[in-house]
Amino acid sequence: MTLLSLLLSISISLLSPVAARTNLPPVAPGVFNASARIEINTTPALLWTAITNFTAYPEWNPFVRSAITTNPLGIPLPPSDQWPAENRRLLFRVQIPPLPLPVNASTPDNPAHSQTSFENITHVQPGLGRVAWKLLSVDLALEAERWTAVSVAASGKALYESREVYRGALAGVLEALYGEGLQEGFEGQAEALRRLLEGE
Ligand SMILES: *[C@@H]1O[C@H](CO)[C@@H](O)[C@H](O)[C@H]1NC(C)=O
Ligand SMILES: *[C@@H]1O[C@H](CO)[C@@H](O)[C@H](O)[C@H]1NC(C)=O
Ligand SMILES: *[C@@H]1O[C@H](CO)[C@@H](O)[C@H](O)[C@H]1NC(C)=O
Ligand SMILES: *[C@@H]1O[C@H](CO)[C@@H](O)[C@H](O)[C@H]1NC(C)=O
Repeated sequence: MTLLSLLLSISISLLSPVAARTNLPPVAPGVFNASARIEINTTPALLWTAITNFTAYPEWNPFVRSAITTNPLGIPLPPSDQWPAENRRLLFRVQIPPLPLPVNASTPDNPAHSQTSFENITHVQPGLGRVAWKLLSVDLALEAERWTAVSVAASGKALYESREVYRGALAGVLEALYGEGLQEGFEGQAEALRRLLEGE
């Protein structure tokens, strides 16, 4: 390395912005990921409740139109158990790309954009403000785990962050077909949470 390139690389590293602080856990990168980050004028406790209250998803969520906790066989759990707990399963009905905002419980799906997925709740860490679920794939060619984290932003607002990393031989195909729609879904859900909690 010449002295000039050394000086250049040092000055570039000094100029690069400090990474925004995050409450998402570090995970190995995959083939691609979908993510969202938004500051919301609410408390972390209210944000946590909105994220974990699966029963209310149809009322506000343009991406995950319904989320039902089930036992390992896919049998729905009682209403009192429609909250995350490790090793519960989740049956999702999603729209990729998401529906336009706003949505409510009677907003019809676009059938051409409907997908379902069956997930395992892998981590529930209320003390850390973190929850995660992972796709139960029929084969091992696709792995996808979504972490969601709540924290307090530097501004004092509540910070919502969510990221799903996709791995495996099928991840490239998934990215080509749905990469953009999934990213729109994450962003749509984040904006919908903001509207829900800021009362818009
Ligand atoms: C997510 O994707 C972005 C953009 O491609 C990349 O910079 C980042 O490292 C990825 N993160 C993970 C955990 O995969
Ligand atoms: C969860 O959502 C349901 C459906 O909107 C609502 O009736 C219930 O009060 C919510 N629970 C909490 C603790 O917010
Ligand atoms: C629910 O959303 C639909 C559009 O998706 C709208 O036509 C309807 O008026 C909304 N209903 C209520 C009660 O806001
Ligand atoms: C579901 O997640 C729990 C908690 O991380 C784990 O113990 C269990 O092995 C997982 N089950 C499956 C089928 O992946």
